[in-house]
Amino acid sequence: MKLTRRQVLTAATAMALLPASVRAALPRLEAREAVQQIAPDGYDPTRIWCYDGSAPGPGIRVPQGGRVQRRLVNSLSQPTSVHWHGIRIDNAMDGVPGLTQDAVQPGDGFDYDFSVPDAGTYWYHSHNRSMEQVARGLYGPLIVDEAAPPDVDRDLVLMLDDWRLDPDTVQVTGDFDNGHDLSHAGRLGNVLTVNGRFDPSYEVARHDRLRLRLVNAANARIFDLGLDGVDGWIVALDGMPLPEPMPVAGTFPIAPAQRADLIVDVTAAAGQTASLVSVERDGGYGLVRFEVSGESAGGRRDAAPTPLPPNPVPEIGNLADAPLHRMVLQGGAMRWLESARIGDTELSGRELAELGRFWALNGYAERPEDPFLDARRGSLHRIAFVNETAFPHAMHLHGHHFRLIGADGGLGPWRDTVLVERGETREIALAADNPGDWLLHCHMLGHAASGMMSWFRVT
Ligand code: C2O
Ligand code: CU
Repeated sequence: MKLTRRQVLTAATAMALLPASVRAALPRLEAREAVQQIAPDGYDPTRIWCYDGSAPGPGIRVPQGGRVQRRLVNSLSQPTSVHWHGIRIDNAMDGVPGLTQDAVQPGDGFDYDFSVPDAGTYWYHSHNRSMEQVARGLYGPLIVDEAAPPDVDRDLVLMLDDWRLDPDTVQVTGDFDNGHDLSHAGRLGNVLTVNGRFDPSYEVARHDRLRLRLVNAANARIFDLGLDGVDGWIVALDGMPLPEPMPVAGTFPIAPAQRADLIVDVTAAAGQTASLVSVERDGGYGLVRFEVSGESAGGRRDAAPTPLPPNPVPEIGNLADAPLHRMVLQGGAMRWLESARIGDTELSGRELAELGRFWALNGYAERPEDPFLDARRGSLHRIAFVNETAFPHAMHLHGHHFRLIGADGGLGPWRDTVLVERGETREIALAADNPGDWLLHCHMLGHAASGMMSWFRVT
């Protein structure tokens, strides 16, 4: 029997009148401590903070257009919150203490309940004292499935992270307020993990076609990735499908918080090891091993994958009419701030450093009172990120995806986080269509905590 519209309305009203504790509880997502083998085998396990007992936390997977419903339960000793990174979400569910909700105190909970408009690879992570909480393991994957997923033998989420462990105790070091890290590249780790394990391996067959969903959950590390023994295409960036799959040639960067979806074919022979490689100045090392055995049950594919179906993102209209807003990235080692503002107060670089502030956005070393951009719902904007610092930054907008604007003025891929190299200016096109107050910050989490934090409003 179907409920009538009247019955549904009555039920909804009754629900609203009940105190939250009496309503049917949502599935829990518990932020808590745990121990996990982060260092290579043979070392002690590491005490971590995580969701539901492991880092990454549980894979949350919903169909496109479906709902995510979780009650965050805070069993940590610090307040916390969850941000659903890259989701074009209802503002009240965005998880930003001081802007969209109060931080959830130890012992308390918060109900997150929202629908997801776009298919793709997303993630969730703490947004309170995130430079510490994410570094300790408070993150997990959020996968939104296309109605018709692509033809692959295996769909693998690979969350990359680097942990800074004390070499003697293999525990997470507590030096989150270290001024040297904050004013330089950020907190870089000494143990690299994928899905919370050092040097993991997966079994694959020759000619298997794999979908690899790469997520960079590290505080500050930019990975330059390459493939060995597998060959393929990038099919989506930051969750959003590319109009044409892009063949992987050489290496490609993935900055903190960015994602890349790859579709790859295993070309290595049975008995060999293929790998996802991280390339650094002093050479490369494998992040993930694929042990190849047998022949693919799916058979060898000769054709390139077809593009993933596009998501229902807004149209980017005529850019010529869109106002241009400059956001200047300032400060850091070698380009030290002479002065910047916190609220109405202008402070000297020395005073700011004493407060642990080393960076500024348009002259503010803390999220300002007024928004950087006050946009009418449905309006189109250009934002130029002007990087005057000596370091790269990964600039992230909440609640929206935007399109990169190429040097030739043409529109590039949709993203939610853009890597702006030192000395570079990157322009983006933003269709401000999601009402609310939204953060805009560097996703190198130490930079965000020491000055690179702003916001915009859509009404
Ligand atoms: Cu993934 Cu404001 O962050
Ligand atoms: Cu930065």
